[in-house]
Amino acid sequence: MVGGGEGAFIGGVHRMAARLDGHWDLVAGNFQSDPDKSIAFGKSMGLAPDRAYADFRSMAAAEAKRADRIDAVAIVTPNSTHHAIAREFLTAGIPVICDKPLTITRRHADDLADLVATTGLPFILTHNYSGYAMPRQARAMIEAGELGNLRIVQAEYAQDWLATELSGNKQADWRGDPARAGPGGALGDIATHAFQLAEFVTGLKTETIAADLEAFVPGRKIDDNVNIMLRFNGGAKGMLWASQVATGSVNGLKLRVFGDKGGLEWAQETPETLLFTPLGGQQRILRRGGAGVSASATHATRVPGGHPEGYLEGFAQIYTDAAELIRAHGENRAPRAFGRLAPGLSDGVRGVAFIEAAIASSNANGAWTKIV
Ligand SMILES: NC(=O)c1ccc[n+]([C@@H]2O[C@H](COP(=O)([O-])OP(=O)(O)OC[C@H]3O[C@@H](n4cnc5c(N)ncnc54)[C@H](O)[C@@H]3O)[C@@H](O)[C@H]2O)c1
Repeated sequence: MVGGGEGAFIGGVHRMAARLDGHWDLVAGNFQSDPDKSIAFGKSMGLAPDRAYADFRSMAAAEAKRADRIDAVAIVTPNSTHHAIAREFLTAGIPVICDKPLTITRRHADDLADLVATTGLPFILTHNYSGYAMPRQARAMIEAGELGNLRIVQAEYAQDWLATELSGNKQADWRGDPARAGPGGALGDIATHAFQLAEFVTGLKTETIAADLEAFVPGRKIDDNVNIMLRFNGGAKGMLWASQVATGSVNGLKLRVFGDKGGLEWAQETPETLLFTPLGGQQRILRRGGAGVSASATHATRVPGGHPEGYLEGFAQIYTDAAELIRAHGENRAPRAFGRLAPGLSDGVRGVAFIEAAIASSNANGAWTKIV
């Protein structure tokens, strides 16, 4: 692991999720940019002293030489550092599991894409919401044509934790600094999740967008509220709203998809159920672990329905799919089961293209802008 030191947020989630299905152990890491604190934190995690590293470059070099080297590195540092860290490990021949957004510039995203293409190494991007069972069920139903031709895709991700300036908050500090977060605020932090989920579930690609970005909190340098209209290939249209100033909202990620034969609705805060309404019929509540769910949703299920699964299990699914991709790569075979559903480099490049298109559109007063 690189990042995820004392007081960090997502590194701890990755550690729990990675271990959940038994495919991963934490054996090495550079957890903070301060060398002494990184080494101390690694030791506190029970790592062998020679694998608690002072910096990520020495970690990549030392791990590449070991017979028992790491199978992958998890990158859980602020956005601006992803490119250099991922580049270092890919160059050392080590697969990467990186958190989103992939990078803070398109040039850096393309550079990683080139490196992955030339090395052939697995690269997984932890858009964790596509690991939940019921979005996978929704994807399977859309693939099977149960919604008919898709017309409308509505995605939203509403939070309120940045509704005021949070000085001294570790997570808020770098998220408000374009040098570390990149040019997008809520856009990079949470709109990218809604964007990836919408494309993952529907199988559509967003072609053009019209965006209106706002920084409501005085003095904030990057957006904290995002309104975007979307036009998809095949003619579907939609809207994406992401906000970190939506008072009363916590992790309100929600997706609604409407076709000419039916409609679907899924919300992250009630992840066990998917609402499906066939045109002219009664609304049905589909439950994770219930009868008749897709093989892909069953694959993303651990315990029987009624024993709730959620955030950690969705994250764990990405790690399980990553393990399969990395094993398949090592054994020179195609991935089994649903390993191919893991989000990867192309999701990362699209996410960065989405961020850049949204900013360009908003700066041009909402002009329709292509995602390229
Ligand atoms: N998938 C998700 O749902 C999700 C949720 C939260 C955050 N994230 C992403 O995870 C990343 C981290 O976010 P966070 O909220 O955990 O941030 P954080 O500030 O809580 O943690 C970042 C950690 O990285 C360490 N770090 C910083 N620079 C480093 C370097 N050069 N070398 C080694 N360690 C370094 C810091 O010391 C800290 O321990 C971001 O890219 C963020 O967008 C994803």
